[in-house]
Amino acid sequence: MASNSDSQFAQGHEIPVSDQKMPGLQSEMKGPPPQNDHIPTEDGGYQLYKAAGKLEGKKAVITGGDSGIGRAVAVLFAMEGADSFIVYLPEEEKDAQETKRLVEEKGQKCYTFAADLKDKKNRKKVIDLALEKMGKINILVNNAAYQNMINDISELSEEQWELTFNTNIHPYFYLAKYALPHMKSGDSIINNASINAYIGRPDLLDYTSTKGAIVSFTRGLHNQMISRGIRVNAVAPGPVWTPLIPSTMNHEAQEQFTSPMGRPSQPSEIATCFVFLASMDSSSIAGQTLHPNGGVVVNG
Ligand SMILES: NC(=O)c1ccc[n+]([C@@H]2O[C@H](COP(=O)([O-])OP(=O)(O)OC[C@H]3O[C@@H](n4cnc5c(N)ncnc54)[C@H](O)[C@@H]3O)[C@@H](O)[C@H]2O)c1
Repeated sequence: MASNSDSQFAQGHEIPVSDQKMPGLQSEMKGPPPQNDHIPTEDGGYQLYKAAGKLEGKKAVITGGDSGIGRAVAVLFAMEGADSFIVYLPEEEKDAQETKRLVEEKGQKCYTFAADLKDKKNRKKVIDLALEKMGKINILVNNAAYQNMINDISELSEEQWELTFNTNIHPYFYLAKYALPHMKSGDSIINNASINAYIGRPDLLDYTSTKGAIVSFTRGLHNQMISRGIRVNAVAPGPVWTPLIPSTMNHEAQEQFTSPMGRPSQPSEIATCFVFLASMDSSSIAGQTLHPNGGVVVNG
């Protein structure tokens, strides 16, 4: 059923500029709440996502599943019949428990694991624990990320450069490496990249570089895995209304946080791409990147 309660935000650009400490909490976001299970209607309102059992019996690992895009992916996966194992930072426990509640409300299981993915040991633990809890892994969603705006390379510290790579790309490799021996034909890996890999955003040089690496990692891993029937794809969102924004972007950037559609996307609008890539609806799509970015034309 259509709901117009948040229609102003869906149609126009009404970001409530605010500040949060990294990593940011969805429970503390100002303004209209990000949409998890509702997608836009033609008239600027929202309607409940219509599920069709596309992921029945599947088990998914979702990093950064406590909030934003990861939470919406867990919720739509649940509506399509999949259980999830979500990974997040310890300080995000409250958001993680809310994701668990939302998934359970849809009739599926959600296992939670607070772990810093910068720590190598935790990457193996994620896969071991997910297998212990769920018995198998059909879908790996690599989604966790860090960003911090710095305008010039001369001010970008070596520490930040390495921290960003340690958070945004190294765990994608490790989790895929540890999960793949347990995956089979029909299973899939979906990596969250960003529009910034394609437009080269200057004030996020380190983040943008990791996102480019994710696109190339997706292509190379796909070329290894396609003979096993495992599809590896990426999603490259444009601006999306999530805790990452008030916790990492300055006020000017928040004010300009929009797209050719005149608004940022909702997490649910990105999550539909993950459902598509995880399901057999996308059976002949592999090694590709989808671009839910509000209408920016990019190559690749
Ligand atoms: N929001 C946007 O505008 C936007 C645009 C393009 C791409 N993305 C991508 O979407 C993905 C999800 O981000 P989001 O916007 O939903 O924000 P978000 O803040 O809701 O999610 C990011 C998550 O990453 C996780 N994370 C960060 N560092 C971690 C660490 N060291 N260990 C474990 N987990 C860690 C946290 O749990 C956090 O919730 C990211 O890959 C981001 O780059 C977001």
